[in-house]
Amino acid sequence: MPARLVVLVSGGGTNLQSLLDACRDPAYGADVVAVGADRQGTGGVARAAAAGIATFELSLSSYADRAGWDVALADAAAAHEPDLVVLAGFMKLTGPEFLRRFGGRTVNTHPALSPSFPGIRAPQEALDHGVKITGATLFVVDAGVDTGPILAQTAVPVENDDTAESLHERIKVAERAMLVDAVGRIARRGFSITGRKATIL
Ligand code: GAR
Repeated sequence: MPARLVVLVSGGGTNLQSLLDACRDPAYGADVVAVGADRQGTGGVARAAAAGIATFELSLSSYADRAGWDVALADAAAAHEPDLVVLAGFMKLTGPEFLRRFGGRTVNTHPALSPSFPGIRAPQEALDHGVKITGATLFVVDAGVDTGPILAQTAVPVENDDTAESLHERIKVAERAMLVDAVGRIARRGFSITGRKATIL
């Protein structure tokens, strides 16, 4: 049976699209069974709908508090019985209830070489710091901001004339390849965690 993936997005969904494309091959070992977003009208949800995949949109502002949103997000994901939850450009922290139910099987992709530049402005911060190499990291989500055990990383050079946008676009090319490769291997074989060290089996 292919692994059931629920993918959460906040934006254009190019990482999601690379997973959707990979999942067309039965040998890949995974199916995207639902795509969720933290806002209405994302490109990611539009891509899912175009592919005939179930979607849900849960805006934080529609809930009395963050805890209520967290429970609703966990319920919405649980309805699709995921084996693995993939945060692919999801710009919110998942909360305690989500982690209680999906911790250890939720992964996130981040556009920097962790532990450098956590948060939502990683390409700009890499430029501001003057690093010559940055990249992308796939990690197992924990309660911190981009702090979980690292499953995969890919390096990307910073060019002299880069803007945050041009650097992020170059990162995303490498990031999509890393995500597709790592999620496929996880779907087919799983991963283990010992302390900080995560290993795809
Ligand atoms: C990706 O680069 C992802 O790593 C980043 O948002 C982009 C989403 O692109 N996520 C974060 O910065 C989370 N901290 P996409 O919508 O085209 O897949």
